[in-house]
Amino acid sequence: MVIMRNLLIPLLALLVTYGCHHESPGQRDTDLSFDTTAVVNEGEKIAKATFQTLSSNLKNAIEEGGIEHALQFCNVEAIPLTDSLSSHHDVSIRRATHKPRNPYNTADSLEANVIKQYIDNMESGENVQPVTYSDENRITFHAPITITNQLCLNCHGKVNEDIGEEHLATIQELYPNDQATGFEMGDLRGVWTVRFPATHFDSTEIQQLKQ
Ligand code: HEC
Repeated sequence: MVIMRNLLIPLLALLVTYGCHHESPGQRDTDLSFDTTAVVNEGEKIAKATFQTLSSNLKNAIEEGGIEHALQFCNVEAIPLTDSLSSHHDVSIRRATHKPRNPYNTADSLEANVIKQYIDNMESGENVQPVTYSDENRITFHAPITITNQLCLNCHGKVNEDIGEEHLATIQELYPNDQATGFEMGDLRGVWTVRFPATHFDSTEIQQLKQ
């Protein structure tokens, strides 16, 4: 059973809407307690480092051989680069989305709930914040990925306006079921998911914070 707690956006509404069960307060508290601030800080640090690695590689690829080369580069390297950062930090990092280019990045049901909540929040003009929750084996962090750079539109913007014809052909060849176009500046592109083993925060420092 999934236990959700300490959510920074009103996930309670999600729980009601999507029918997850919530255990009564106090149950298994000692096993599952975690410091939300520590998780958010660590999650943000890891997501930022991953974003920086991906974007500096993307920029290098564009400088080397333009958008065409960068498309081929991302096709081969985006997931291995993300995975290498997962190993480095001893966590699992991924980018999940409601509009996937690579089907591997399709949001699972929990990620889809968070995405839906973010989209609702953005539509009503609210800020979108990181979310954390835990189950027996792991602690999960999510944060929004928004389109904040014109550069993104070369490959994720409007067909025939932002994305050139030849690049669209390459995208469709590499990803026959691509759904990752039509985005505008400020749109939600997806979420970061960082999953920590439940023991990740069991350092002395965190234990002291918990007391
Ligand atoms: C040169 C073209 C290109 C540019 C520019 C680009 N992307 Fe992508 N993007 C891709 C490709 C190709 C994939 C699929 C990678 C794979 O197969 O793992 C992708 C995948 C993604 C994904 C993973 C979800 C999915 O649909 O597979 C996210 C999130 C994403 N891009 C966000 C961005 C953001 C934000 C920017 C701007 C900072 C950006 N991209 C710029 C080509 C691009």
